[in-house]
Amino acid sequence: MIQLKVNGVSRQFDGDPQMPLLWYLRDLLQLTGTKFGCGMGLCGACTIHINGKAARSCVTSLADAAGADILTIEGLSAKGDHPVQKAWRAGNVPQCGYCQSGQIMQAVSLLKEKPKPTDRDIDEAMQGNICRCGTYQRIRTAIKVAAGVKA
Ligand code: FES
Ligand code: FES
Repeated sequence: MIQLKVNGVSRQFDGDPQMPLLWYLRDLLQLTGTKFGCGMGLCGACTIHINGKAARSCVTSLADAAGADILTIEGLSAKGDHPVQKAWRAGNVPQCGYCQSGQIMQAVSLLKEKPKPTDRDIDEAMQGNICRCGTYQRIRTAIKVAAGVKA
């Protein structure tokens, strides 16, 4: 039996421990804000937080997540008003939206680690999150707005 916490709720899982955490979140818990992109840890669409740090749920097994505190986009804020979400809305960041939960979760993780990130910090933290709509410039600006640094 695997125990873990998802968005503050304690959960137990007794299925295949090698199942990707992404399937568990989307198919069993219906937390579909986290997206499937590549399934190989290459695009960032499935980004969630594990114990407060951004991680790719498509390449994290339930066994790897045992005992962990998992945060998904649904758990970020009850009303969608986390400062990063507000900055995203103010800057009209999303286009199709598919990559954006992952982008936001990655950005929140960055700002926890570096509250006043430089351009280089942003590039390094966000380079694994692909946006096929090319919203990179707006993402960068929104991160700076959320951080209160000059955009
Ligand atoms: S779906 Fe996980 S990194 Fe692409
Ligand atoms: S907004 Fe469409 S993939 Fe990023």
